[in-house]
Amino acid sequence: MTVEFISAVNVNPSNELNRLGRAGIDLPFFTRYVNALEDAGFDYTLCAYASSFQDQFAIANQIVARSERVAPIVALRPNTIYPTVAAKALATLDQFGAGRAVVHFISGGSDAEQAREGDYLTKEQRYARTAEYIDVVRKVWTSTEPFDHEGEFYKFENFLSLVRPTRGTIPVSVGGSSAEAYRVGGSRGDIFGLWGEPLADTRAQIDAVNAQAAAAGRTDRPRIWVTFRPIIAATEELAWEKAERTLAVLQSGGPRVEPQNVGSQRLLEIAGRQDVHDRALWTPTATATGAAGASTALVGTPETVAAAILDYVDLGADLISIRGYDNLNDLIDYGRHILPLVRQELAHREATGQRGPLQDEHPGAFAERTPA
Ligand SMILES: Cc1cc2nc3c(=O)[nH]c(=O)nc-3n(C[C@H](O)[C@H](O)[C@H](O)COP(=O)(O)O)c2cc1C
Repeated sequence: MTVEFISAVNVNPSNELNRLGRAGIDLPFFTRYVNALEDAGFDYTLCAYASSFQDQFAIANQIVARSERVAPIVALRPNTIYPTVAAKALATLDQFGAGRAVVHFISGGSDAEQAREGDYLTKEQRYARTAEYIDVVRKVWTSTEPFDHEGEFYKFENFLSLVRPTRGTIPVSVGGSSAEAYRVGGSRGDIFGLWGEPLADTRAQIDAVNAQAAAAGRTDRPRIWVTFRPIIAATEELAWEKAERTLAVLQSGGPRVEPQNVGSQRLLEIAGRQDVHDRALWTPTATATGAAGASTALVGTPETVAAAILDYVDLGADLISIRGYDNLNDLIDYGRHILPLVRQELAHREATGQRGPLQDEHPGAFAERTPA
């Protein structure tokens, strides 16, 4: 199993800790960030979407223009761009990037956020639209003859695109934790994205996605993407001190909205159970931020966090998204300390068929105290 790493791109130094709140593109910073992604050995970087953000396609094209290897994951909300246009834009990006485009479909967890760009469908309808959208985009990528389409959400005639993905298709990702997300992603996704939950909860979500894949008659299964916010330091003690400092800043971030999306609701429920789960998963960061997005941390030394990541690899997750609160500096740290440890262990397993010592030697600071 090839395990790959995902980061998330930033276009200026603003982050949840310094709260600079800058909106502009800081080109020297952005260029440093993209170079750091390559130097750190990340395979992908998410170009996230929100109604107030910079254009994620422009960012993705700038990433492939400034790099050789890292692949941009374009987060795409179907209400924002017509599917035939999106299919061509993705195929064009893929050609500029010599086959490096990935698309992550966002059906949208908040009615209020969707309404900001004129989308008044219910969430169920949004997921049904995403399903039709994915079918149209895939057909645009592969059709060599003009075709008509008439579905519940889209209707067009005699359409043909001359723009093809470098390898004939582009990986399609779907994220979310609702039944609709499992159905759409399980039946149509090459990748299924999850936020970092305890191992048992993650196992249950993977099973739910795979059950939908089976129900759709698929013989393959989506790759599983899990997302964490690692907080690392040279000793467990220093890491937990850093975690508490980070939490204090997040907690001073003002009132939080009650989330509408299942993914965030699950994280808040999990955070309500206890603070530390399994080897190193820490969830007060989710409570502090209303679990709006990727908001659960892995805390410890690089060895402990690498061991924790391997626990999710053992569950079947082979796409590991890690992004820090101190975005650029953490990215560099992860490249120096976490990615090499995980890859070393996987190479050891490949070569010997045996697990290495990492997961036995680094149980995490609270392992003995967290209930089994
Ligand atoms: C890994 C991952 C990345 C996501 N990225 C974004 C994003 O960039 N923008 C966004 O609006 N929602 C993003 N989401 C949210 C979901 O895609 C989803 O639309 C929403 O959470 C509704 O989900 P639900 O099915 O859990 O209710 C992401 C979710 C996951 C798991």
